[in-house]
Amino acid sequence: MQKVWFDDRFMSDFVSSDELEHYNPAVESAQKMLENKSGPGNDFLGWLELPKAIDPATLKQISEKAEQIRSKADVLICVGIGGSYLGAKAAIEYLSPSFEQMRKPQIIFAGHTINSDYLSDLLESLKDKEVAVNVISKSGTTTEPGIAFRVIRHWMEQRYGRKEAASRIIATTDPSKGALRKLANEEGYSAFEIPGDVGGRFSVLTPVGLFPIAVAGIDIKKLMEGASQGYDLFKGRDIQSNIAGRYAAMRNILFRRGYTTEVMATFQPQLHFINEWWKQLAGESEGKDGTGIFPAGLDYTTDLHSLGQWMQEGVRSVFETFMLIKNTRSSICVPAFDDDSDGLNYLAGKTFEDINNKAYQGTLLAHLDGGVPVSTLMLEDRSEQTLGQLFYFFEKAVALSGYILRVNPFDQPGVEAYKKNMFALLGKAGFEKQREALAQRTKDMGV
Ligand code: PA5
Repeated sequence: MQKVWFDDRFMSDFVSSDELEHYNPAVESAQKMLENKSGPGNDFLGWLELPKAIDPATLKQISEKAEQIRSKADVLICVGIGGSYLGAKAAIEYLSPSFEQMRKPQIIFAGHTINSDYLSDLLESLKDKEVAVNVISKSGTTTEPGIAFRVIRHWMEQRYGRKEAASRIIATTDPSKGALRKLANEEGYSAFEIPGDVGGRFSVLTPVGLFPIAVAGIDIKKLMEGASQGYDLFKGRDIQSNIAGRYAAMRNILFRRGYTTEVMATFQPQLHFINEWWKQLAGESEGKDGTGIFPAGLDYTTDLHSLGQWMQEGVRSVFETFMLIKNTRSSICVPAFDDDSDGLNYLAGKTFEDINNKAYQGTLLAHLDGGVPVSTLMLEDRSEQTLGQLFYFFEKAVALSGYILRVNPFDQPGVEAYKKNMFALLGKAGFEKQREALAQRTKDMGV
């Protein structure tokens, strides 16, 4: 059953149906490149078949380990960044109750910033808690999670002793390569494998995302079922049968017309981190070779009171995709008051969802009138299946969109530039030459 819909009926002032039809061959060819593995980055297409191909034994192993952690830990610290962080965070925020402290174990993320205060506050908060750690890095060499894990490992070993600490640390990394794999082998950590042909930002449906999600008490079998439904729903080669292809075509048409930023505007707070995950997925996949749609995210209605003005009347270089959950889990009504002193009795008896829906309709009409091309992604509910479909929808849409844009959606050469500079400036072996030149530049620039 379909649980993710793309509605672009309001786009007709900006993109004609003929124009959209015109993109059918581009969608078809992109889809064939994925199917035949004939496009650039074809050694990173493992994500494509994951929902159908994931080994049930792996799912069982993840679930069993998750149960073990659930029974003994109050907190699971997940150490990772980028694709090794955002998918799990997005899923947990989407599917769990809003207030973390209501859940056991709490899932806390670290290693996605470089900040002593964050880490020391975190460790301070763990004093009376039972702790487990999942360190996640495909390369096993990323600086941010690497240094955070050093601190956390040291803390764990001080607290539990080396052997017990090792039994509470789970590594998720490459099957054979990298420093983390070596460390896991040496210390005897339990370890999950990230398939070599699945890139970081496409890895939410591997143990990278699935293990923390399972520890949070979420049914990963149902999540994979949803992704598998997504596989069937979004495999068509034309925009009539495949909404992922249709969405990919639409954004490319708009981009070529000068709408260079896509604003994903959500209407429920549980979608905030879906946006963060999507921003990485789309931005790292498409922003290269001097091209690429800039993916931005807004949280409505909160941001209507900060960036709503810009969206209504700013530079007309953005198109907007609304994202909404159709059925919320609860439904609170606005209460009536006899005195009506705040003048809000006209809303009494209406649910927050009725009101939010009117906010959506009002925004859609206003932004259309303001010259913003708008469309809507509607999600059925906050269930595992819907989320599985949504993850797969975005992965497929971004891959198709990247191929239509004529880039390799599966590499990220640009991410290396800052890393190389940082390594050189920090004095990593092998970067001696660059170090001198960069140190001189920072001195000249006074930074
Ligand atoms: O999509 C990607 O490949 C990156 O964003 C990575 O996920 C991120 O840099 C973290 O890399 P790693 O898992 O190797 O630590």
